[in-house]
Amino acid sequence: MQAAYSPDYENALRRRENMLFFKRWLKHPSQMGTLAPVTPRLAKLAADLVENPSDLIVELGAGTGRLTRALLAHGVKPKNLVLVELDPELCVFLKETLKDLPECKNSMPHIIEGDATKLAEIIPESFKGKVSTVVSAIPFMYIPPIAREQIVKSSFDVLKPEGSILHVTYNPKSPLAFKKDLKQERVGKLWLNFPPGFVWKYQQGWPS
Ligand SMILES: C[S@@+](CC[C@H](N)C(=O)[O-])C[C@H]1O[C@@H](n2cnc3c(N)ncnc32)[C@H](O)[C@@H]1O
Repeated sequence: MQAAYSPDYENALRRRENMLFFKRWLKHPSQMGTLAPVTPRLAKLAADLVENPSDLIVELGAGTGRLTRALLAHGVKPKNLVLVELDPELCVFLKETLKDLPECKNSMPHIIEGDATKLAEIIPESFKGKVSTVVSAIPFMYIPPIAREQIVKSSFDVLKPEGSILHVTYNPKSPLAFKKDLKQERVGKLWLNFPPGFVWKYQQGWPS
């Protein structure tokens, strides 16, 4: 087996990710949202927007771990990272592939097979109310509005008061409706990506 991060390892991993992602998309198209994982450039853009990588971080819809690896490369500590993923096959893939990373030599992220709408119930007790960023690539555009609302509410339930949600999407417009107590800001854009990608930041409070 090649060392993690060698070009051969990366290419082989990307091929496996793309195949598995596509297979899961055929089974659950709206849950997956897209045919393929986010590109490494979009993953890096989103991960680098995490302002305090030494804090407790949650990733929703971790998929095959493309964004997870960018978060770890940005300095997020595995023991401080909770990954929530609904698809059991993707959870197995995450466990199997993340352990190859040098960052995960001594500890692994907490991988939770579960539904992000119930985040506040499934997250470890030690994270509750102490998370500084929830990073989400859940396809808000394709899931029912009620589930979207529950994910946002559950995320704010586990976040610190000043914490934020970073949402990765292919939609240049915010997928969340205007709300008087929700600050919404587009903090990242990558037009030269296929498809173009965007990162939205949500915080509790009055829009300025
Ligand atoms: C667009 S993919 C994002 C994949 C990944 N973050 C990446 O780096 O490419 C969306 C992921 O969200 C997961 N998902 C969708 N709804 C979910 C939910 N309610 N709870 C947890 N995961 C969910 C899907 O199974 C899928 O893996």
